Amino acid sequence: SPPRVAGSAGTVFCCCSECCFNSERRAGQCVTTFRVRLAAAWPNAGGGCPGAPPPAPRPRQPLPERHALRAGRTALGRTSAVRGILCRLGVLIKVHACGVNPVETYIRSGNYARKPALPYTPGSDVAGVIEGVGGRVTAFKKGDRVFTSATLSGGYADYAVAEADTVFPLSDKLSFSQGAAIAIPYFTAYRALFLKGHAKAGESVLIHGASGGVGIAACQIARAYGLKVLGTAGTEQGMNVVLRNGAHQAFNHREANYLDKIMEYTKMQGVNIIIEMLSNVNLAADLHLLSHAGRVMVVGCRGPIEINPRDTMNKESSIRGVSLFLQTEEERRECVRAVLDGIESGWLKPVVGPEYPLQEVAKAHEDIIHSSGARGKMVLLP
Ligand SMILES: NC(=O)c1ccc[n+]([C@@H]2O[C@H](COP(=O)([O-])OP(=O)(O)OC[C@H]3O[C@@H](n4cnc5c(N)ncnc54)[C@H](OP(=O)(O)O)[C@@H]3O)[C@@H](O)[C@H]2O)c1
Repeated sequence: SPPRVAGSAGTVFCCCSECCFNSERRAGQCVTTFRVRLAAAWPNAGGGCPGAPPPAPRPRQPLPERHALRAGRTALGRTSAVRGILCRLGVLIKVHACGVNPVETYIRSGNYARKPALPYTPGSDVAGVIEGVGGRVTAFKKGDRVFTSATLSGGYADYAVAEADTVFPLSDKLSFSQGAAIAIPYFTAYRALFLKGHAKAGESVLIHGASGGVGIAACQIARAYGLKVLGTAGTEQGMNVVLRNGAHQAFNHREANYLDKIMEYTKMQGVNIIIEMLSNVNLAADLHLLSHAGRVMVVGCRGPIEINPRDTMNKESSIRGVSLFLQTEEERRECVRAVLDGIESGWLKPVVGPEYPLQEVAKAHEDIIHSSGARGKMVLLP
């Protein structure tokens, strides 16, 4: 018979991998088994079986694992309602890769508007394998390859807990690292281009900063939807990546006269849309690169900039902020549909840049902010 584990109130629950995670129980009971299951996913971290001999003294776990476990428990412990939902609708994922997004460095530094409760484990874009599912989860089963657009416990970890409706099947066409490069980059790019920028086939778009996670996603999506795509990068290697991923033309944003080259390429007409990754540097110049009624979509910004509002009047152009965090459920579904269609059709192929072991996350955070030249999505490998 399966091993049984004492619950917090002295009740005994089953903790075998088959039934504790899948069975229908009352919320309180479920939580205990869910926790036990989560704990059991780490060797030496689970509870003991009352019938078993006392366990031998265990070596202390490496820090990342202890932290992941604590984060998972914290996520599960917020309120009993949340715990109940998680237990029924949550999944536990063995993380194989987690994308690094610049916003995680802003949040970690404490200078960002959103300040998470502590302890905090960053990371939303996980790819991995389902380890267990809540009682009401039917879309996934243990062993499925998946990627996420959010986690409840944090993705910079060996295991992560996520709500099932933020988890998607990972096509066999894509590696785990590619799976970890999908959610924030492609959802943001789609949102900027279509939900906020109202891009149409035949229009021209300048992806200002096209060599990183969001930029490459924007190049691939814009090309697939019939736009004329111009992209910039700061290195030769980055420009080649941009050209290989849908851009009709690439420019080097570290070259003194690259803005003139862009205008020449458009026959002095300018572009309909700019997807801007560094607006604190480029916004004033962007207004001169737009065509009549053009729009700048502010995706990335790391500080203030002075612009002349008159430059918007000349062309009746507009500047619009983009925030993925404000997406509605309907918008989210549209993004998901577009992304899954793109993977299925084969045009959506995330480009993985530097990969770091989880232990080197501090270096990854340094490098993404002080990049010497992006060439794809930065990924952590636990
Ligand atoms: N608004 C939202 O909801 C949202 C969502 C996701 C991301 N973001 C933001 O969008 C930005 C890009 O994110 P990411 O994940 O793509 O980051 P990333 O992978 O680090 O890429 C950064 C990009 O910015 C480019 N860049 C550097 N200097 C530039 C310049 N002077 N002009 C134009 N581009 C320049 C880089 O090009 P080189 O390295 O080749 O020079 C690279 O292509 C970040 O600021 C991020 O915080 C916003």
